Amino acid sequence: MAGDRLRVGVLGAGRIGSFHARTLAAAGDVGELVIADADPARATALAASLAASPAEVRTAASAQEVLAASDAVVIATATAAHAELITRAARAGLPVFCEKPVALDPAGTRAALREAGAAGILLQIGFQRRFDAGFRAAREALRAGVLGRVHTIRCVNSDAVPPPAAFVPLSGGLIRDCMVHDVDTLRWLTGREVVEVYARGSNGGAAFFREAGDVDTAAALLTLDDGTLATATATRYNGAGYDVRMELSGERDQWAVGLAGRTPVTSAEPDGPAAPERPWPGFLERFADAYRAELAAFVRAVRGEAENPCPGEEGLRALLVAEACELSRRENRPVRVAEVG
Ligand SMILES: NC(=O)c1ccc[n+]([C@@H]2O[C@H](COP(=O)([O-])OP(=O)(O)OC[C@H]3O[C@@H](n4cnc5c(N)ncnc54)[C@H](O)[C@@H]3O)[C@@H](O)[C@H]2O)c1
Repeated sequence: MAGDRLRVGVLGAGRIGSFHARTLAAAGDVGELVIADADPARATALAASLAASPAEVRTAASAQEVLAASDAVVIATATAAHAELITRAARAGLPVFCEKPVALDPAGTRAALREAGAAGILLQIGFQRRFDAGFRAAREALRAGVLGRVHTIRCVNSDAVPPPAAFVPLSGGLIRDCMVHDVDTLRWLTGREVVEVYARGSNGGAAFFREAGDVDTAAALLTLDDGTLATATATRYNGAGYDVRMELSGERDQWAVGLAGRTPVTSAEPDGPAAPERPWPGFLERFADAYRAELAAFVRAVRGEAENPCPGEEGLRALLVAEACELSRRENRPVRVAEVG
């Protein structure tokens, strides 16, 4: 630690890694930021764009160099590299913030969690919706009984435009990459576990999804352990904009998360709300505040000032449900989550 200001390593300078680096470089309690990417030009460009930040920003040639120069590390590489980097950071005794999902499969996730547990390090997973004002308000309302018995929950998760083709084969697929957020939100919000799923997928868009064994659109029916029914849909093609919503229907009231001025929906009703002038273009804009808040929470947890808000085990629980959905859509049958757990 440089004085009481942290030295933070950032591994991965892509879409989300760049956002996290910008957040950290502007945070007063980060003194130094060390960035590395498998593509060094990306790390260099990112560091250059942050040259005027309060934190000192530099690049490193390898993950090893980043780990050796940091008090804590943020892993925002392609998913396929997460587990190995968590393991290396754990062996170096460093606290880790890792983007979701922890790994591409449950075995890789468990191995990384074992390493983190054995080293006794802090491991926080990047489920940023836990820091979103709307999701937090809905959680409080549900838990305070405002909605009464909730019987149905509907999750919407739509990208406006597909990710780059190169992202897809390393992502784990639409369900593990995107729907895993809906699963985490369902678990965190309700405090219940998903016990059974039935999922389907479709491919009407670019061939690179199919070629990677992936789908560009998916829908799942999820049954919670108290019998609550939830649906989750995800797509890479929502021309209207980036759309993340959750509707919770109870005996007493019905709440919608993500239904606001920039929600990319046009009402078909003559007296319905006007279509948004500036619909959300993507996840970075929609969840900017939540991404900043989760990293602020990470810094507090590293300093021992707060509990870990999203431990590694939460990443495993969500991935197991996503894994069950993936199996269900591949085999076209309902799957008990215990089958993959
Ligand atoms: N929480 C969220 O809402 C959210 C949003 C987007 C992405 N993500 C997650 O963040 C991760 C990155 O996604 P992205 O959209 O930024 O992808 P991206 O493709 O834009 O960036 C990934 C970067 O990682 C680099 N990289 C790959 N392997 C590496 C390695 N071994 N060492 C160093 N660098 C390496 C690549 O060169 C690339 O620059 C994924 O796991 C994704 O699931 C989370």
